[in-house]
Amino acid sequence: MTTPATPSSLGTDSSPDLFADAEPRDVVARLSLEQKAELVTGATFWTTAAVEEAGIPAIMVTDGPHGLRKQGGAADHLGLEQSVPATCFPPAVALGSAFDTDLAERVGAAIGAEARAEGVGVVLGPGLNIKRSPLCGRSFEYFSEDPLVSGELAAAVTRGIQSRGVGACLKHFAANNQEHDRMRVSSDVDARPLREIYLRGFERAVASARPWTVMSAYNRINGVSASEDPWLLTEVLRDQWGFDGLVISDWFAVGDRVEALRAGLDLEMPTTGGASQEQVIAAVQEGDLDEAALDRCAARVVELVQKVQAGARTPAVDVDVQAHHALAREAAARSAVLLKNDDEILPLDACASVAVIGEFARTPRYQGAGSSQINPTRVDDALTAITAASRAEVRFAPGFPLEGAEETASGTAQSLRAEAAEAAGAVDVAVVFLGLPAADESEGFDREHLDLPAEQLNLLEAVVEANPRTVVVLSHGGVVALPFAQTVPAILEGWLLGQAGGSATADLLYGTANPSGRLTETIPLRLADSPAYLDFPGEHGHVRYGEGVFVGYRWYDARDLEVAFPFGHGLSYTRFEHTDLDVSVKADELRVRATITNTGERDGHEVVQVYVGRPGSTVARAPRELKAFTTVALQAGASQIVELRVPRQDLAHWDRRLDRWVVEGGEHVVAVGASSRDLRQETRVEVPGDEVAVPLTRESTLGDALAHPLTGPLVREAVQEAAQSGGGGDVFSAEGLMRMLESFPLGRLGGFSTSGMDQEWVDGLIARTRRG
Ligand code: BGC
Repeated sequence: MTTPATPSSLGTDSSPDLFADAEPRDVVARLSLEQKAELVTGATFWTTAAVEEAGIPAIMVTDGPHGLRKQGGAADHLGLEQSVPATCFPPAVALGSAFDTDLAERVGAAIGAEARAEGVGVVLGPGLNIKRSPLCGRSFEYFSEDPLVSGELAAAVTRGIQSRGVGACLKHFAANNQEHDRMRVSSDVDARPLREIYLRGFERAVASARPWTVMSAYNRINGVSASEDPWLLTEVLRDQWGFDGLVISDWFAVGDRVEALRAGLDLEMPTTGGASQEQVIAAVQEGDLDEAALDRCAARVVELVQKVQAGARTPAVDVDVQAHHALAREAAARSAVLLKNDDEILPLDACASVAVIGEFARTPRYQGAGSSQINPTRVDDALTAITAASRAEVRFAPGFPLEGAEETASGTAQSLRAEAAEAAGAVDVAVVFLGLPAADESEGFDREHLDLPAEQLNLLEAVVEANPRTVVVLSHGGVVALPFAQTVPAILEGWLLGQAGGSATADLLYGTANPSGRLTETIPLRLADSPAYLDFPGEHGHVRYGEGVFVGYRWYDARDLEVAFPFGHGLSYTRFEHTDLDVSVKADELRVRATITNTGERDGHEVVQVYVGRPGSTVARAPRELKAFTTVALQAGASQIVELRVPRQDLAHWDRRLDRWVVEGGEHVVAVGASSRDLRQETRVEVPGDEVAVPLTRESTLGDALAHPLTGPLVREAVQEAAQSGGGGDVFSAEGLMRMLESFPLGRLGGFSTSGMDQEWVDGLIARTRRG
């Protein structure tokens, strides 16, 4: 591995302005084949190539996504070697739960400022892959099981990073939803789920935030490598969505550099020690690669370097480490989700004695392992913060051994459990910190089950027996099963909260902060209930996305399955009422208004969620899909009218016959609520549909002809006649006859006809739709 160079030449080369102001195409026109080939593959692990003769400096790109992982010495893409200290903000699993795009943008801006101060040109994040299975080892790096949430939050983080003159990178494009076999597996996914679920978030973020870069994924999609796929990287990303930035490969994702260039992959990372350059040069010389394709990619690298250079010249923002820590604390407090709070056991009374139990309270888990692993500027632990917040006795018992935590390594599980139960029995409230051991979840592999370690569950049982007034605080990156959900009165889902998670947890426990996080993914009762259960992680290099569009809550709702906690769920220390729902249908959007009132005694944030369903749809659909959300801060007793917009385009499904989005007209149910299963008000509106007229062929069915606006009336009439003239026998009415015949291909009707539906009639139908 090469040592990364610092891009010290940024903005200081001999002819910066000449280069900065030049048209990228003109810059490329002056380069030799060798120089162009050099430009489109990394020069080191983290930097692009400098072409000094042309005044092109190197730029540095670096991880991402929830903080900066800039390595100064040895380099790797798995978070194994040291990186410079940086603020570790809550990873996406947590930040997403805040459902707050303004907050996400502020976090992005802070990351951008730190990147800028370190001379980094592009931050490799946000990650916005869909959480298809709760087992995905990288769940902590992604926002949600829902494309709207993923796309909106990724767009916000992107805007924030780029507001500091640094590029963001949407990753991993696309359908990269597992770690198992990640560099080879083919995600075999149909057109509708691909468009509606897996590409949709990227499309949103590309359109609304204009990221400087997009990272192509390791995996294949329907057999084609995502890094070598012209359909994905050029047709969809650029031609259909209008992406005007640069496509960078995931590290070591490129198998065939020439194929990748043809597909539109601009920059391969990291260096290949000259091998890729040789392949590219040879391919051009042998006429195997059109030099124009190389020129296009080289021009995009030039353009990115220019953007980075221009960004580096905008006024810098001072990095205030303390202020960033405070932001990390605010974000963490907004991210945790209060799953349960019976008898208002929370917030804790500062005068109540507390037993803090569980090694995680002292040795926090606050981020996941792999390329996103940040070297934090500091780490707050909950035990210290609780001790500071409390005015009564605070006892601590580690409760279970944690690998790496020296103090507990020697205690046996049994003696630790007995000590914890004793502490719990002697106080007013026990707060038990449980979670997944760090080694259980990481980039590079998936989990095999959803269970917390047995010794932790045994510990909890002993504590609850000693003191039923027990609160559980959870730390983990992917969903875990909660077999204790009925027995403990309160659960605070902390996910991984970043470096200030410990103090934020104390803020929430003592009510200095009011919980407002909401689940961006469903917590199922059992792994076997989850949508991808039978198809994850696939076999022999293929994983079949058999659940189709029914991902996350779409699945649990469509199958009417009971869940532990539904998508969108999260409690507060106050209560909110949703009233006066009003939906108006405009030409290009639904406008949804509702009044939200804080009817409790504390100030708080409410996440208002708008779900839309299309009952009786002609395509398979979930009962409802999240179509808009917003977060409102309301003082106790205050009310506010919120207005949310659902762009008409977001009501569309992907029509695979036409290869485009189609809004299906008809009655839509619009509901507003506090979770996908806590809908407070709903109303029905009539939405006009898009004109869909698929030309008929001899393979089309009579049913297709019936549904076609130009031929439907003729078919109805013909069937009616057939039924009346005895074509339905004694048994069938016109309706019954139609049901019998609807799947009959038109081309095969001719010989069969008992009525006027002969070959000539069929040809007439087909001709009519072609003219139309
Ligand atoms: C990860 C990327 C990361 C890259 C560089 C890869 O292993 O998949 O997310 O940006 O390494 O560290």
